[in-house]
Amino acid sequence: MSQLPQRQSADDVVFDCIAEALAGNGYISLPAVLPAGLIDELFMHLKSLGSCEFRQAGIGKADARQVNTFVRGDAITWLDETSDASRAYLDWMEKLRLELNRRLFLGLFDFECHYAWYPRGSYYKQHVDAFRGSDSNRIISSVLYLNPGWRPGDGGELVLYSPQDKANVVESIEPRYGKLVMFLSEVFPHEVLPANRSRYSIAGWFRVNNSLGSVIDPSR
Ligand code: OGA
Ligand code: MN
Repeated sequence: MSQLPQRQSADDVVFDCIAEALAGNGYISLPAVLPAGLIDELFMHLKSLGSCEFRQAGIGKADARQVNTFVRGDAITWLDETSDASRAYLDWMEKLRLELNRRLFLGLFDFECHYAWYPRGSYYKQHVDAFRGSDSNRIISSVLYLNPGWRPGDGGELVLYSPQDKANVVESIEPRYGKLVMFLSEVFPHEVLPANRSRYSIAGWFRVNNSLGSVIDPSR
């Protein structure tokens, strides 16, 4: 008996698209491809958090972490399994992690992400999310934007620069509601331009486990 062709789900089409882009250019910017209900739920969850639940983001890992608002001005709060919205987002990203491993043999081990709130006037200077050959374990960066009614002039664009020449702009990306951006963490210098109104997003990273033995790499 011949097998019926398997029906591709909408998510599968998106996962294909992401895998192809990461293996090609190394980055992709997609319009709202997550289920619309999920994007709205995340936005409502984010808005339900009080400002005291956010802390000033730092640079450097763990003990070396320093707050430097000249470099970055966002405040963050990590997503966990305690709300329906964040659980649904982590589930979607878990499916994507498995699909990227299946398609690209990346050995991605987990995904971590935080809400980021850039108050008006704040930015994040040019940086890379991981340094090749260091003990960094971030492989793919992701950003989901949660800014309803974003308009040109509101600022806060994500600017990706050329891996070969960090003065050369590859793409300037408006942080529009529901947009999902993914790029290779070690490859693209990038920055967030000053936001002229509060700017919200979820920044996340797929990681590999670089540790030896049974100890899992500390991340944050
Ligand atoms: C980051 C980052 C980009 C963005 O958090 O490391 O670069 O567009 N974020 O929010
Ligand atoms: Mn970054």
